[in-house]
Amino acid sequence: MLSCKDLKVWYPIRRGILNRVAGHVRAVDGVSLSIEKGETLGLVGESGCGKTTLGRALIGLEPVAGGTIELDGKPIDSLKGKEKKDARRNLQMVFQDPFSSLDPRMSALEIVTEGLDAFRLYRPGETR
Ligand SMILES: Nc1ncnc2c1ncn2[C@@H]1O[C@H](COP(=O)(O)OP(=O)(O)OP(=O)(O)O)[C@@H](O)[C@H]1O
Ligand SMILES: [Mg+2]
Repeated sequence: MLSCKDLKVWYPIRRGILNRVAGHVRAVDGVSLSIEKGETLGLVGESGCGKTTLGRALIGLEPVAGGTIELDGKPIDSLKGKEKKDARRNLQMVFQDPFSSLDPRMSALEIVTEGLDAFRLYRPGETR
């Protein structure tokens, strides 16, 4: 269902007044995995080994430096329009740090319904 091959996410390290790229943090460097429908995959590793970065790359929140991601056998970057929107609805992440993932200026209702609203599953003012 969801797979990646030789996936790489590198962050540039910038130095000096010209902000030149002096190197890269290879946060994810050549990861291949495959998750079938109904399957649960646990990813375990020391802090900073790249678990969150891999997750962010898989759902399209992080640009990749190399490798491929496929959803139902199709390269994820080839999806367009409705297909892309449907894929986004099926790929979701629960972020571990509430202080950086929840916007303190939004109400709890706005936070919970923002995603539902984006997919027209909820209209503001409607309660179910
Ligand atoms: N936006 C960024 N810019 C530069 N480096 C980053 C960025 N995000 C993560 N990194 C670096 O990439 C590496 C992987 O970080 P990541 O957050 O994916 O690790 P993790 O396995 O999720 O750790 P933890 O168990 O603490 O959540 C770390 O060295 C981190 O410092
Ligand atoms: Mg993490």
